[in-house]
Amino acid sequence: TNKGLEIHPIAGRIGAEISGIRLSADLDTSTVHEIRQALLRHKVIFFRGQNHLDDEGQESFARLLGNPVAHPTVPTKQNTDYVLELDSAHGGRANSWHTDVTFVDAYPQIATLRAVVIPSAGGDTVWANTAAAYQSLPPELRDLADRLWALHSNEYDYARNHNNVSSEDEKRYREVFTSTLYETEHPVVRVHPETGERTLVLGHFFKKFLGLSSSDSAHLFSILQGYITQLENTVRWHWSVGDVAIWDNRATQHYAINDYGDQHRVVRRITIDGDVPVSIDG
Ligand code: SIN
Repeated sequence: TNKGLEIHPIAGRIGAEISGIRLSADLDTSTVHEIRQALLRHKVIFFRGQNHLDDEGQESFARLLGNPVAHPTVPTKQNTDYVLELDSAHGGRANSWHTDVTFVDAYPQIATLRAVVIPSAGGDTVWANTAAAYQSLPPELRDLADRLWALHSNEYDYARNHNNVSSEDEKRYREVFTSTLYETEHPVVRVHPETGERTLVLGHFFKKFLGLSSSDSAHLFSILQGYITQLENTVRWHWSVGDVAIWDNRATQHYAINDYGDQHRVVRRITIDGDVPVSIDG
């Protein structure tokens, strides 16, 4: 029933919609291979109308992509092994640019996200291609990035990214998020273990570049991060309930747009374990 995936690229440099497929644990290996190839090529892939999936279905499908891994600090949703629920009513609004969980050594390689409750307007998510961003750097900045390493931590500076430090629920969420502190160093340029592409490893868990002051780090971060979030390197998805997005967390950043006020938004994420980034020096 899943013969011939239809793959439609959405933006010029990232993102494709795949139709003609019902996601489940029953997919055969050649279909899973095709999905994986599409993921490596397009960085984020979208599937509409997967309303048959429940938490268990999302978990068993995710297992086809690798070993699911729970979030290091946020407890998984009740009665699930790996589901991270992001509920707007409880502070789950990921509205700053990031790659998931870069504050651990071997951060996840892939994430799957399922739309459960979606506002009538707003609440889109945007992904950016960090390989295209690396390619679009001028040679002088590329050489500099190639040599740099950075410190990443979940000691997330909320005030740096948000004007309104708001509800008690959001404060509680952030407390849970940082209940155990993690810190690690990554090369700023990582060689993708499957495609060999060079990608930029930055995003909101970045703290500073090794060998640079916090102040110089902040300036340089904003220059490099600006290449990632350049609109030409992005794709924006307007969700319907039942949509599933799968992204290559080694080659993307994403941003959940917080433009829906008090409307309710719930998405559920499962991440697949990854490996320690390898720099261009091996
Ligand atoms: C996430 O940051 O993993 C969630 C993105 C979203 O809520 O759309």
